[in-house]
Amino acid sequence: MNGFYTRRLASPGAILAPMAGFTDAPFREIASSMGALWTVSEMMSAAGVVTEATTRRHGRDVTLDLGRPFEGERDRVIQLFGADADVLADACRHVERLHAPIAIDLNLGCPVPKMKGRGGSCLLQTPEVAAHLVQAMRRAASCDVSAKMRLGWDADRSVEIALALQEAGAALISVHGRTAAQRYEGEANWDAIANVAAHLSIPVIGSGDVTRASQVAEKKRLGVAGVMIARSAVGNPWIFREASGGAAPTNEERAKVALMHAERAAAFYGERTGIRALRKVLAKYLPHLREELVRVETVDDVRRVVTFASSRTTAQPAA
Ligand SMILES: Cc1cc2nc3c(=O)[nH]c(=O)nc-3n(C[C@H](O)[C@H](O)[C@H](O)COP(=O)(O)O)c2cc1C
Repeated sequence: MNGFYTRRLASPGAILAPMAGFTDAPFREIASSMGALWTVSEMMSAAGVVTEATTRRHGRDVTLDLGRPFEGERDRVIQLFGADADVLADACRHVERLHAPIAIDLNLGCPVPKMKGRGGSCLLQTPEVAAHLVQAMRRAASCDVSAKMRLGWDADRSVEIALALQEAGAALISVHGRTAAQRYEGEANWDAIANVAAHLSIPVIGSGDVTRASQVAEKKRLGVAGVMIARSAVGNPWIFREASGGAAPTNEERAKVALMHAERAAAFYGERTGIRALRKVLAKYLPHLREELVRVETVDDVRRVVTFASSRTTAQPAA
């Protein structure tokens, strides 16, 4: 154990939650530079890591890219999914050697049906199996091991599950305040998250429906050690700066960072792949330019669109 989580939680701010398809190296690095306490990678298949097998996305082999750091990137947690203790243990050794994460997290929250039997939120039905997996990872890894769960499979069993994970040696638990059956429907249940925090001695991080930096302090008053932000950080990395006491962005800064994000995506993935995949994110930075931004192909295209935006006085902040 390296005590990373406890050290970082002594500072004010919020955490970038894992998001498949979004929390890649360029975005994590930007969130980190804006003051995110730490960032979490997209979930990586433990079996894929061990066999160094590849998944294709946007015409590119990506499995190992998911955990690869951006140059100079710091405070990056890698999230793994899997359902086999030996494979997860082996994957911990692999990612520590390949990517040197600051901590490793186990996904116990992904609700998509294709994960059935392969990990994710299925494991919430068998807390003893989830705990066994954490124990195996803990033995294999030299860094902190944590887990990110939902409240339960189709009913709230969060305290029972979280206690089992704590007992297994998790250094921290993040809780998304919905059941797997709920997917993203309804509101996240912060009373249930607070109840988990009240029962555990390790830090508990809450996740769900935080859309403004001012909510971070409100949620912390419920007793959680920290707050994770996922969807509302896309195109709005300043939420982390604001959560640690900094200023909201100007319109000029929105345009500047959107362009910087495009440059970094192009550097990390190659221009064609990087820019195409980023279109949906660029439109979140500058929603009033959505029509132009969802068609960009190159960094120069992005530069043209955002330069035009900065020259206009009517620029609107992101929703
Ligand atoms: C597109 C998308 C991808 C996600 N991918 C992951 C993931 O890979 N691992 C994980 O633990 N949670 C994942 N989540 C869940 C988020 O981390 C977070 O718990 C959830 O979105 C609630 O937070 P929010 O309201 O701030 O978005 C994902 C959520 C979204 C919307």
